[in-house]
Amino acid sequence: ISSILIVLNLKTYLEGTGENSVRIAQACKDVADDSGIDIAVAPQFCDIYRVASQVDIPVYSQHLDSVGAGSFTGHAFSRCIKDAGAVGTLINHSERRLTLAEIDASVQAAKKSGLATIVCTNNVPTSAAAAALSPDYVAVEPPELIGSGIPVSKADPAVVTGSVEAILKVNPAVKVLCGAGISKGEDLAAALELGSVGVLLASGIVKAASPKAALEDLVSKI
Ligand code: G3P
Repeated sequence: ISSILIVLNLKTYLEGTGENSVRIAQACKDVADDSGIDIAVAPQFCDIYRVASQVDIPVYSQHLDSVGAGSFTGHAFSRCIKDAGAVGTLINHSERRLTLAEIDASVQAAKKSGLATIVCTNNVPTSAAAAALSPDYVAVEPPELIGSGIPVSKADPAVVTGSVEAILKVNPAVKVLCGAGISKGEDLAAALELGSVGVLLASGIVKAASPKAALEDLVSKI
């Protein structure tokens, strides 16, 4: 159970913005404590400090730029993200795509600041390419299933098993997450069956009438 990781991306959903980010993070913390499963939350930049200082839960940034200290304006600087209380960052989310060179630079910048790295990918070849950059995790998410409510573990199991296989060949130290349309306990159980170590998810929990009840269902089949 301890090697399973669930990362809840709050995106820019109003239900996960501002004070709401703290409420959802607290629900994650409660369910993590009860289940013994690691649950992390990825709020917007401006909410990282708010969440990290009020809830004892791993906080990830939704993005990170590779800029260093100095004459740069309007960037997400790794050191600032770390100082705000984050322990890691998503990189190259489908809704925040980067070039391969930028992904590499962002992974390096995050590592330099002591942040864990989750590089998001959209198919098997990009999963293999991301693994070559040695992030801690690669999270494969077919874009067409994001926000669809149709779980990747059912609709496209081959993209998960294919990514697991390709990543193992390129860099066996990289762990695999999968995401898109995940919301139920059976979706997480299927994702683990396919060889991933956890899931990256958003709408099924953030937009649920009770995020806590939805999270309880998510971990119920482990
Ligand atoms: O970052 C997670 C995400 O892109 C999946 O979104 O709403 O399909 O769980 P969702």
